[in-house]
Amino acid sequence: MTSTSLRILTGITTSGTPHLGNYVGAIRPAIEAARAPGVESFYFLADYHALVKVSDPARVQRSTLEIAAAWLACGLDPETVWFYRQSDIPEIPELTWLLTCVAGKGLLNRAHAYKAAVDGNRAGGEDDDAGINAGLYLYPVLMAADILLFNAHKVPVGRDQVQHIEMARDIGQRFNHLYGETFTLPQAQIETQVATLPGIDGRKMSKSYDNVIPLFAPRVDLERAIKSIVTDSRAPGEPKDADTSNVFALYQAFASAEDTEQLRADFAAGLGWGEAKQRLSQRIDAEIAPLRERYLELMQHPDRIEAQLRDGAARLRAQRAQPAMARLREAVGLRALDAGTGTTATGKAAPETVVCAASVTPAPVFKQYRERDGRFYFKLLDGEGELLLQSPAYDSPQAAAAAIAALKSGALDPGALSMFPQTFDRAAVVSALLELQGP
Ligand code: TRP
Repeated sequence: MTSTSLRILTGITTSGTPHLGNYVGAIRPAIEAARAPGVESFYFLADYHALVKVSDPARVQRSTLEIAAAWLACGLDPETVWFYRQSDIPEIPELTWLLTCVAGKGLLNRAHAYKAAVDGNRAGGEDDDAGINAGLYLYPVLMAADILLFNAHKVPVGRDQVQHIEMARDIGQRFNHLYGETFTLPQAQIETQVATLPGIDGRKMSKSYDNVIPLFAPRVDLERAIKSIVTDSRAPGEPKDADTSNVFALYQAFASAEDTEQLRADFAAGLGWGEAKQRLSQRIDAEIAPLRERYLELMQHPDRIEAQLRDGAARLRAQRAQPAMARLREAVGLRALDAGTGTTATGKAAPETVVCAASVTPAPVFKQYRERDGRFYFKLLDGEGELLLQSPAYDSPQAAAAAIAALKSGALDPGALSMFPQTFDRAAVVSALLELQGP
């Protein structure tokens, strides 16, 4: 099943209470994306990552519960999506160590979050590494393990996380270079449309700015927060510019295109801020109220959430994490001593110990050939040799090779597959192309 789907994975650090920015920027689009055919989604609670910043145990626990309840309340279906808690998958920290041993220290020195902490120390006249824990430094490696363990293709994240995905690629690539083709190299996927929901002060909504509107606050608190959104001082009757308004930006994230245009027109015609905020409250509440009800219900039953998370982790470990880790241990030489000596550094594992997992399926291949008609063709086969795609005829081997190159580099371009004559399983083809794409 894995070779025919596009794997999408993302983690949510369990260090705070879910807010509207999380909902619009992550939860809502992720649940939507998981419904697409041919997609296998992995959404997890990054509680190990939370420990880097939070040393208050009650807060970590509370946040984990709230975030899990929020995702479930918003419609995540743990039967169709892998939904789990990072710390329930011991293969993740195990892989972290293997990756730590291939990650360049220089690479980690360049991580924005670590560099910002060092810069802060320098500005304050402190020692470079004062107060910086090694968890912050290794944060990108743990994140690489989250992603690479499951060979994710796409990782939806905010802009601030893009560098981490690039580091995961780097680390995965280096591992592949040392030990043979093992990991799929992931790509960041940025929700450009929704990346910047403003908070009440107009800066990006973020718990670090203390400007958030909690997702499941009672309606009165929602209204109060919305009333406090910063606006300019134009009075009712004066025309207002929608594009510079935080109220408008928030409204847009919850309204249809039509209603959004209506608000734009009403602003131009002088709609007052008070009334606009009221409309915004109503609009948000209309979408959130049913979810809030489910959320409150779930929060009454932490035992059910706990059971769901454990179940998700148990299945994921058995089906993916453990087999993948067995193969990774094999690849680096953590082997049973009586299992014979497999080849070194070529990625060829000793035959008895090969385990079937997502990461073990042999890579797809392109095969080029010449037909009796004297023309040139290629086909794309998956790791098991099954035909995924059959090319049209080309006049020269070069033309066929160019078409292959174009396919590889444009895997996700919707037009890229249009010239292929036969019907094919699009998701399988895209997934194979991504696997072949390399760096
Ligand atoms: N670091 C991410 C954040 O703070 C959370 C995260 C942890 C994550 N592991 C991940 C995101 C793996 C994507 C993939 O937003």
